[in-house]
Amino acid sequence: MAKTPTTKKFILLPTHIAMVPDGNGRWAERRGLPRLSGHREGAENMRRMIKYLSKYPIKYVTLYGFSTENWTRPEVEVMGLFAILEEFINKCVPEFNQEGIKLRHLGRLNELPRNLQAAINRAMELTENNARMTLNLAFNYGGRAEIVDAVRRLIAEGVSPQNIDEESFGHYLYTAGLPNVDLIIRTGDEMRFSNFLIWQTAYSEYHFTKVLWPDFGEKDIDTALLSYSRRQRRFGGL
Ligand code: IPE
Ligand code: MG
Repeated sequence: MAKTPTTKKFILLPTHIAMVPDGNGRWAERRGLPRLSGHREGAENMRRMIKYLSKYPIKYVTLYGFSTENWTRPEVEVMGLFAILEEFINKCVPEFNQEGIKLRHLGRLNELPRNLQAAINRAMELTENNARMTLNLAFNYGGRAEIVDAVRRLIAEGVSPQNIDEESFGHYLYTAGLPNVDLIIRTGDEMRFSNFLIWQTAYSEYHFTKVLWPDFGEKDIDTALLSYSRRQRRFGGL
């Protein structure tokens, strides 16, 4: 019998996977194509990967689509990326909706172009009652910016110091209500996480791969899941 995600027996699946899809630019450059072709192919792979992951009983998937630091790239690339992300949302959301996927945005939404904001808002409204899997799109997201935004809100709301602890602080982050990240994956042969979910990954398991994001396929994600299922997580205990 062919192995499908439902017949594969992973001892322990992550509840929350975060992914840093890196390597789109190099994927394109190696083919003599403009970087934006790599981003287009990368968006197509996000779609494939989300559909594949939604077959597993994995509750939360978070994708890093655009960081607060990505604004420093040339304007054509930034604007091109936004257009690709908008197209990705408009094209994929009806499919995601059918799969029971709920969309959520993490980051500073109001700094994004209006059309992209509108597409994200429509997607969140359309899928708000879905419960099978939550897909968090981190567009214009920065981990430090997230902590700064949380502190600003705490102060603005006049929260007193004795009422702040790790749990209550978590309610002020973009990820309020989401569980911490169990497994974080980065493609594209870089050993860093570039300001992604720095609070939520304090005890995550890391998985790095040399595969460039547009080439990252079902076998590669299964390798990451299998590796995760074999780890012993102790959270600082024995
Ligand atoms: C990742 O691919 C996509 C985004 C950052 C939006 P890159 O554009 O970083 O690709 P490389 O690292 O140059 O290959
Ligand atoms: Mg990169």
